[in-house]
Amino acid sequence: MGKNFYLETFGCQMNVVDSEQISTLLEGMGYQLCAEAASADLILLNTCSIREKAERKVIGHLWRFKPLKETRPGLLIAVGGCVAQQEGKRLLDSLPHVDLVFGTHNIHRLPELIRRAQRGERGVETAFLDGETRIALFPRRRPGGAVTRYVTVMQGCDNFCSYCVVPHVRGREISRPSGEVLEEVRQLVAGGVREVTLIGQNVNSYGCSIPGELSFAQLLAAVHDIPGLLRLRFVTSHPKDLSAGLIDCFATLPKLCRHIHLPLQSGSNRVLAAMGRGYTAESYLDKVRRLRAVSPDIRFTSDIIVGFPGETEEEFRDTLAVAAEVGYADIYTFLYSRRPGTPALKLADNVGAEVKQERFDRLLALQEGIGPAIWRQDLGRTLPVLVEGESRQGDGQIYGRTTWGRIVNFKGPRELVGETIPVTIIDSYRNSQLGECCDAAAARCHAQR
Ligand code: 5AD
Ligand code: SF4
Repeated sequence: MGKNFYLETFGCQMNVVDSEQISTLLEGMGYQLCAEAASADLILLNTCSIREKAERKVIGHLWRFKPLKETRPGLLIAVGGCVAQQEGKRLLDSLPHVDLVFGTHNIHRLPELIRRAQRGERGVETAFLDGETRIALFPRRRPGGAVTRYVTVMQGCDNFCSYCVVPHVRGREISRPSGEVLEEVRQLVAGGVREVTLIGQNVNSYGCSIPGELSFAQLLAAVHDIPGLLRLRFVTSHPKDLSAGLIDCFATLPKLCRHIHLPLQSGSNRVLAAMGRGYTAESYLDKVRRLRAVSPDIRFTSDIIVGFPGETEEEFRDTLAVAAEVGYADIYTFLYSRRPGTPALKLADNVGAEVKQERFDRLLALQEGIGPAIWRQDLGRTLPVLVEGESRQGDGQIYGRTTWGRIVNFKGPRELVGETIPVTIIDSYRNSQLGECCDAAAARCHAQR
């Protein structure tokens, strides 16, 4: 009988793509994906260490698998991703039921590492590879039946923002050759994919280190022109590197969705400098204005950290002011968390827990007055929705997204999956909207957004 693996993925889009590679490698070894850890022969966690809370969640999760190990002889437990990279051997030492720890640059070695674990050898592999080797090892992707897919254009980060563990656990920036990215998108589209999101820790620095390579704006334009692709998105873009060329893409590329995730982190210039972000509140707002000038209906989302070391009440109010001025459709708010190996560790984490929480709550309260009102503007409007699949709501509903990335659930036939159709928005909730597609069959249209 074949063996089963159970895989759980935490964290960002990078880990989602890495988990696809892990699944492909394991299937190549004869393993089959299963939905329950209890019936697995191999349990893998692909982990995130961006904040302490995320890391604790992973460790807590790992302890939950210990009883299984005792009842299922031969069960292997493997930990990959950013916690694995950061903690390495310490994980093996502290978790006696874990067999294998593999870092962010070592996924390709899984088959060999698993075979060793099968022979009873516990192992750790967290060596970083050089850029060329990583490019050469880049996995070939398969379409897999989905309508939307992530496509990695670059990995790693050289920014070293003072609070951030990413450069330490993902290594230096590398860009994939544009020819490979384009070929991958062509193949995905040939297999039925209709929307791609180009991903990287900082997509705006795409190609910078390769002489003669396309800029990110040029790469977007080239991907945009691939026939059969209906929509294009990208994430994440660092405000300091957001170029005039990229801003222009929102005017010139109709398939580019009208949404940009532009992490602000703080609205205080002193805090931004201490974070090493390389922009000011004014230069950030200037880019927001320029984006709105070329694309008046663009919507912004952001990441904001509260309680960075030394953040005063006045500095926090600067953050509130910038958030109010931009008018984000959504924000992801985080309490500052000390991360191993980061420069901010040297600063006293001196904003008390209560103050941090209170600022967090005030920022959320501000956002409550802004975001939902933006999404309610859609009520009664008929918007192009790219249909992605059957809705989790059940009840004969299918779902898709508007250009702004919001999920819209509505009644309609499954055959519409992969098409862009007009849907009238009739209600708006915290994370999704309810739509109505009057005559789904007649409504087939191929609007570009
Ligand atoms: N503490 C709190 N939030 C953090 N982020 C990254 N590092 C930290 C940290 N040490 C947030 C940033 C980033 C998002 C992915 O996570 O806002 O944009
Ligand atoms: Fe972390 Fe800054 Fe790099 Fe983003 S740009 S991954 S916040 S170091």
